[in-house]
Amino acid sequence: LKVTVLGCGNWGSSFAILLHHKGQRVTVWEYDRTRAEKVRLSRDNTPFLVGLKIPDAIKITDDLARSVRECEICVFALPSGTLRAALAQLKPVVPRRAVYLSLIKGIEPQTLLRMSQVIAEGLDRPDPVVVLSGPCIANEVVRGQPTSVVVASQDEAAAGVIQRSFATDSFRIYRSHDVTGVELGGALKNVMAIACGICDGLALGDNIRGALITRGLAEITRLGVKMGAQAETFAGLSGVGDLVTTATSPHSRNHYLGEQIGRGRKLSEILKEMPMVAEGVSTTPAACAMAEKYDTEMPISREVYQILFKGKTPALGLKHLMTRPLKKEAM
Ligand SMILES: NC(=O)c1ccc[n+]([C@@H]2O[C@H](COP(=O)([O-])OP(=O)(O)OC[C@H]3O[C@@H](n4cnc5c(N)ncnc54)[C@H](O)[C@@H]3O)[C@@H](O)[C@H]2O)c1
Repeated sequence: LKVTVLGCGNWGSSFAILLHHKGQRVTVWEYDRTRAEKVRLSRDNTPFLVGLKIPDAIKITDDLARSVRECEICVFALPSGTLRAALAQLKPVVPRRAVYLSLIKGIEPQTLLRMSQVIAEGLDRPDPVVVLSGPCIANEVVRGQPTSVVVASQDEAAAGVIQRSFATDSFRIYRSHDVTGVELGGALKNVMAIACGICDGLALGDNIRGALITRGLAEITRLGVKMGAQAETFAGLSGVGDLVTTATSPHSRNHYLGEQIGRGRKLSEILKEMPMVAEGVSTTPAACAMAEKYDTEMPISREVYQILFKGKTPALGLKHLMTRPLKKEAM
């Protein structure tokens, strides 16, 4: 199949290499001309991909129209905040019959739309988008370390194409119908990863991590169900699976960012030195806005928001979480 991957960052380039090894014909679009040229010639994609070269057979270009010409599958691997602008450029040139696959984990802050909704709206296309989510740290996937993910779409045939065309012996793909649940789990776990990082930065031990994962999942599920997702999706790979991995992995950027906050550093200072996107930062205010819109209690998201954006100290945020009125454990 002819596959175009939009985005040559950590996940885009790793995913492209995975597809190349699966035998697909892959083109990667990088928006920055100088970077595209550097990567095309040197095959070196630092700082996004360290210690590996991009195979020569993978085409790298900054020409969007050319990159998607005749593509059968168009994969979105951009930071969520750059998606709208890219879609405006893509709309007039994208092939009409391609399958669209989103790897992006985020929520659009202004509209509170999920990424597949932004893609459908931005391209003005009714065709269902396929989403892929789950615990899939790019650096592990690209090295062939065993990974399981889930793809979801309202179009079962499109999800089946992705499942069959992209699965390998080390990259196992499950299918789901619950697009809302799969996307929400993938986006909102980044907020919990920041919360876990904050507690690790404060050296609060291991108990709190288990508590944040469990209660974080409870609040994500509570919101998801109100938004029409199925509760059991959050017990799956894109829910608890991704949450456990990001909340505990030293490779998670959102966890790293939280850890730095926990150590008393300022958000703006940390962001300045991070070359890669930490989606949880823009997802946190979106989570709080969704909590309000859907009248859902999301105490962990609320405290992370207060700490990141309102100057609350991590210690006070934690105190406010722990001293809320006592309640039953049920969701
Ligand atoms: N890295 C992972 O392990 C991983 C795993 C699963 C999902 N994701 C998700 O995939 C998405 C992309 O993540 P990533 O890790 O590849 O991010 P990244 O920060 O590594 O990606 C940066 C890429 O985006 C490009 N870019 C920056 N500004 C742009 C703009 N204005 N227009 C177009 N392109 C622009 C950069 O040139 C670069 O190619 C995120 O939503 C992330 O949550 C990442």
